[in-house]
Amino acid sequence: MLEIGAGGRTWLLSGPTSSYALHVTEGGELLHLHWGPRIALADAEALAALPAPRYRPFESPLDGREEYPVEGGPRFVRPALSVRTEERRGTEWVFEGHESDDTSTSGTTDSTDSTDGIDDELRLRFTDAGLAITLHYRMRGDVLERWVTLANGGPAPVELLRADSATWTLPERDGWRLSQLHGRWAAESRLVRSGLTYGEKVIGSRRGHTGHQHLPWVALEADATEERGEVYGCALAWSGSWRIAVAQLPDARVQITGGAGYDDSGLLRLAAGEAFTTPVFAGLWSDGGFGGASRAWHAYQRAYVIPDADRDRPVLYNSWEATEFHISEEQQTALARRAAAIGVELFVVDDGWFGARTSDRAGLGDWRPSHDRFPSGLKPLADHVHALGMQFGIWVEPEMVNPDSDLYRAHPDWVQYQPGRKRTEFRNQLVLNLAREDVQEYLWEQLDALLSSAPIDYVKWDFNRCFTDAGWPGEPYPQRLWVDHVRALYALLDRLRAAHPAVAFESCSGGGGRVDLGVMSRTDEVWTSDNTDPLDRLATQHGFSQIHPARVMAAWVTDSPNTQLNGRVSSLRFRFVSSMAGVLGVGGDLAQWTEEELAEARDWVDLYKEIRPIVQRGDLYRLRPPDGGPSAIQYVLGDESVVLAWLQAQHYGEPVPPLRLRGLDPAATYACGETGEVHRGAVLLHHGLRTGLHGDLDATVIRLRRIPGI
Ligand code: DGJ
Repeated sequence: MLEIGAGGRTWLLSGPTSSYALHVTEGGELLHLHWGPRIALADAEALAALPAPRYRPFESPLDGREEYPVEGGPRFVRPALSVRTEERRGTEWVFEGHESDDTSTSGTTDSTDSTDGIDDELRLRFTDAGLAITLHYRMRGDVLERWVTLANGGPAPVELLRADSATWTLPERDGWRLSQLHGRWAAESRLVRSGLTYGEKVIGSRRGHTGHQHLPWVALEADATEERGEVYGCALAWSGSWRIAVAQLPDARVQITGGAGYDDSGLLRLAAGEAFTTPVFAGLWSDGGFGGASRAWHAYQRAYVIPDADRDRPVLYNSWEATEFHISEEQQTALARRAAAIGVELFVVDDGWFGARTSDRAGLGDWRPSHDRFPSGLKPLADHVHALGMQFGIWVEPEMVNPDSDLYRAHPDWVQYQPGRKRTEFRNQLVLNLAREDVQEYLWEQLDALLSSAPIDYVKWDFNRCFTDAGWPGEPYPQRLWVDHVRALYALLDRLRAAHPAVAFESCSGGGGRVDLGVMSRTDEVWTSDNTDPLDRLATQHGFSQIHPARVMAAWVTDSPNTQLNGRVSSLRFRFVSSMAGVLGVGGDLAQWTEEELAEARDWVDLYKEIRPIVQRGDLYRLRPPDGGPSAIQYVLGDESVVLAWLQAQHYGEPVPPLRLRGLDPAATYACGETGEVHRGAVLLHHGLRTGLHGDLDATVIRLRRIPGI
């Protein structure tokens, strides 16, 4: 809901539990008023009427109070907007008026107005010497989406050195703490919490993709627990380089500024008539602790971000860990038969099916099936997979090229490179310059032809190296390729989805190197990590769940001992229950699994299919974090609930304490699907459920269903 104060200078956006308010003063300063629990318009106006801070010569009257600090004038905080023309640097903007979808008013309106459409969008328009700056606000649930458009209406070019999507201002509290998700390849999404001190904490990526090092998300709170307390969260919808800076200012206020690009050295140059729309930087306030904040993020993504989120994701099989590049039609056909027999619904051929791709040294860029490995193309295998009752998927990495490829031999200038400098190879590959229209067109033609050549239902879209030599010889403003690469990627995905609406897409970047709200609005699930060790995954999944829902979190059961990382031995039970917390997949070498293992796998897949709607669409409660002892999560959907619990190691023979459940009706009674026992809701909530976990690397699944009428 959007409410507008008398005079059209105070705006209040409200979701079910939260509000956000801002105000333009008579002097034209855009001030932040409120972000937190739901308030009335009169409260926002009372905040707007508070006196300005006392004048002090060494303090800025604006710092810490402004909604979107621009560079220039009496400001010393990090600017969200930094622009330069031939004549000057900085912005001195003038407020022009506001618009909303249901009402369109100028800044001189003096009526009180209110709209409550679901997608009410507020736009505040400013101008500075021909540069039109519009701040956009859209409330979706309790998530506020913010972004900015910049349009050059003047005759001269304007350089955007920095154009952040939003600055978020938090209220004054003692002891702010920051939560972030850090990592590296095969160790993504690890949650850390630490106290903020004065100054700035900056996270981001200068790699050209979202990166394994940080998810573009932060949470701030002063005293929250898993289920109680205020939590502020911010997440950026961008899949290229990015930056989020969290600043504790001298008066202890906190501001969070974020947007595309890492450095301030130039994002884009807008010629006369050109415009740039920043990515969305979404913010959420919750008073339900970390768990409540996660559930609100998940609900938002299922409702507004993830395509077809109400359609459950199938169980997939992928042979990458089992076979790597050594694939053939015959071998994949044999694996497909075994996969179908254990209940798999989607069979995916990973890397190695195309061009001269028998190792990572050749073939990227040549998106035609290898004659040696697939003599009649992909169609016979796809048909066979369909005949087995499964969908068929393939792996691609369209943004890359191996120097040893037909594409590179024909177009060595299609890659990012600096003239006269070496072309840095990672994994023997170079990055295509997707900002070039000819490259965009080539990829569209190749991928469209590929998806038309065989009945392909699923595309795993990979990205296996960072930008290094991001040059573009001959282009007057080459650094634009950092932004334009992402825009071209999004456009290509959008075009392919429109032309092939039945095809689902997975975002992968050497595991979880491209997980963000931007790519998630165009893909159906994400590859969480190349680390498929079931114990490490519990921590990765715990971090991932802070922001993203199980509905997109792909998780495979692979071989034991673990072949990729650590040789850890674990039971099928432990591996399956770990992966059943997300979108279940199987990635082990099924050709080596015994009949007993295959039969057990079939039972686990059957069980997953039963609990899948609750896992993929339910509310998540993290009952105990994976910190060495027992850990557990619970999903609740309507009258059904499922608990997944793990025990890493039992010490001193101590029994595992009962798990206090959440999200149930204390007055209801629940039947346990495993034991048939009947439990009272109040007892489960206040005294807990016994899991029977014992020993090392144990795991269990417990289903609960409300008994009607009692
Ligand atoms: C990296 C991915 O994360 C893996 O799952 C696999 O697809 C390889 N690339 C293939 O090269």
